[in-house]
Amino acid sequence: TDTLVIAIDGPSGSGKSSVSKAVARHFNLEYLDTGAMYRALTWYCLNEKVDVEDATALVTAARTFPYVQGTSPDEEVIEVGGVDVREAIREPRISEAVSSVASNLEVRQILIDLQRRFIAEAKNGMVAEGRDITTVVAPDADARVLLTANEEVRLARRGLQLGGTQNKDQLVHQVSERDKKDSKTTSFTEAAPGVTLVDSSDLNFEETIDAVIAAVNTAL
Ligand code: C5P
Repeated sequence: TDTLVIAIDGPSGSGKSSVSKAVARHFNLEYLDTGAMYRALTWYCLNEKVDVEDATALVTAARTFPYVQGTSPDEEVIEVGGVDVREAIREPRISEAVSSVASNLEVRQILIDLQRRFIAEAKNGMVAEGRDITTVVAPDADARVLLTANEEVRLARRGLQLGGTQNKDQLVHQVSERDKKDSKTTSFTEAAPGVTLVDSSDLNFEETIDAVIAAVNTAL
């Protein structure tokens, strides 16, 4: 096809979202944050008092989820039933519950179908970012990148993002333990065949963007 699809995966705190948005701007593409979809569904379940441990209730919620997401890298739009949830989905209560929601395979299939639809409908092409984009959602993407950083760096970046007031135990809980839970359903610690690994441990933000752009250009 003539539209460009770029898949970027990585663990929590790897800088995926900000790097992916910058890469989308560089190539003039749309942008899809798939983590936001799992977070918004989790917000919806908590709001509707759906027990996230009840698989049947969870799948019903995923099927009826009234979701709207924008695809511009410059203006985030995330709505559930007309409610703007951009800030609410970043709250710790969501980060703590989201892995349970994302571990349900039927729920995943519903969101994966939706993600593939977003990608197919992106007229300008798209950068899609998450945990399983390079391997499951878009293994046929034009360029696929796994963005990592060592744990110490990811904890430090997450600490900055959260305002630097968290103690290390809370951070480890929010970053490393979530990654451990997520690794049971998605594979984002090693690059699959054909996926370019970009390790940003020793790179600043601009250098990381340049490294990902270089990896994309090499893959094209
Ligand atoms: O990327 P972010 O930290 O916002 O993702 C939130 C959660 O959504 C992850 O911890 C994971 O449980 C889930 N997720 C997923 N597959 C994706 C993207 C996110 O399971 N492609």
